[in-house]
Amino acid sequence: MAEYVVEFGKDGRPVEPDGRLDAPAFHRNHAPIWAVLKKFLAGKSGDVVEAGSGTGQHVVDFARQTPEIIWWPSDLNAQHLKSIAAWRAYADLPNIRSPLRIDLSDPLWCAGMHDGSGPANLLAVFCANVIHIAPWRVAEGLFAGAARYLRADGRLYLYGPFKRGGKHTAISNAVFDSSLRERDPEWGVRDIEALQGLAASHGLALIEIAEMPANNLVLAFERSKPSQDSESN
Ligand SMILES: C[S@@+](CC[C@H](N)C(=O)[O-])C[C@H]1O[C@@H](n2cnc3c(N)ncnc32)[C@H](O)[C@@H]1O
Repeated sequence: MAEYVVEFGKDGRPVEPDGRLDAPAFHRNHAPIWAVLKKFLAGKSGDVVEAGSGTGQHVVDFARQTPEIIWWPSDLNAQHLKSIAAWRAYADLPNIRSPLRIDLSDPLWCAGMHDGSGPANLLAVFCANVIHIAPWRVAEGLFAGAARYLRADGRLYLYGPFKRGGKHTAISNAVFDSSLRERDPEWGVRDIEALQGLAASHGLALIEIAEMPANNLVLAFERSKPSQDSESN
């Protein structure tokens, strides 16, 4: 069954003296995720926000491979923000900015997104393993912010387990979903169709579903193209 961590650093795993935390899942999933992201990001420049960065390890790995892209990690949890900052200092890469404190349940995310101090040329938003370990309003805020801030050709990438047509894609995901809902009835593995509906309400459309190991998926969303009908009106 998939494991889930609400707060890294509280599971008995060692914490580095500088605050760097380690997510076991990162070591298993970063390469397959990157194989999808790089198809879009390679050769481009701009800003990418990671929403709910957790330890901060994904941003470091991805930033190392994309010197032309500025990466903006973010989270809500104080320990995680400390770990992200520590990984940033440890990696010493010029293209990672200080973590933003973003509460995704706020559709505006944070002041830095709209006061000129944050990303101004938002090429992509990446969010891994967040929306099923959070109330639905976090998914709502994630899509609202992505639609508000992404540039015209920008994309939102989600990674995690998802249901298709209301059905789990594996028994292990069904068991995982039950354990999430037991912990908090507002949590749960999200349905792709529900996410498509949410995306559509913000002018976004699902354009890619990529299979990942361990019954996870990457979903990619971009701005909906105007239909031929509306173009001719
Ligand atoms: C399971 S962890 C995933 C972390 C990281 N993305 C990864 O894949 O390793 C979920 C993350 O979502 C963050 N999170 C939960 N609710 C949030 C919210 N309302 N706004 C922003 N981040 C949130 C948690 O603090 C945590 O870092």
